[in-house]
Amino acid sequence: MLRIAVLVSGGGTNLQAILDAVDEGRIRNAEVSVVISNNPGAYALKRAEKKGIEAVCISPKEYASREDFNEAFLAKLNGYAVDLVVLAGFLVVLPEKMVRQYANRIINIHPSLIPSFCGKGFYGLRVHEKALERGVRITGATVHFVDEGTDTGPILLQKAVAVAPDDTPEILQRRVMEEAEWKILPEAIDLIAAGRVRLEDGRVRIIQEER
Ligand code: GAR
Repeated sequence: MLRIAVLVSGGGTNLQAILDAVDEGRIRNAEVSVVISNNPGAYALKRAEKKGIEAVCISPKEYASREDFNEAFLAKLNGYAVDLVVLAGFLVVLPEKMVRQYANRIINIHPSLIPSFCGKGFYGLRVHEKALERGVRITGATVHFVDEGTDTGPILLQKAVAVAPDDTPEILQRRVMEEAEWKILPEAIDLIAAGRVRLEDGRVRIIQEER
């Protein structure tokens, strides 16, 4: 059984998609052991509590320095002995020590087709504002492994979503979530739990399912 920590900062619709997929058997051999937020007001914490999953908040505001927060966060996470860390709308830059310690064991969902509209400053609604400003006809979402850079790690899954002429950032964000994020994030976790994901020369190879 793969033990997962889901890190969140906001509404938690991707967390919900993971929890639903576990319930419905679309994620097999995995359990969400803990949900950790940096934001005490994150609705994602309520979603976890409703399912009886441990919901923890560690806010940087409670610490004198970023270093102290980083240490406390990593110590808390380590206490749950998880196999996989899933960033599901987690808007804190991960400390390097954590990325090193959990190398190849952290995945992130990003609301664009990387390498478009990603990197520093591209998060949440801003990603969709930028995509509309540029006038792209196709956008989407990406699940990738997390390395020391911002959205630079090996790509695991992507799904394209069409942009409609009258889209607002909010409408586009919702469509990208519904059509892409809530599908590929659970799918990625199921692949990892099944041992079907290999990292080779900085790229992901997905092993075909045995029949
Ligand atoms: C999602 O759209 C996710 O892709 C994005 O934040 C949103 C969180 O929504 N993440 C990023 O932009 C990371 N760079 P949720 O809390 O409802 O899952």
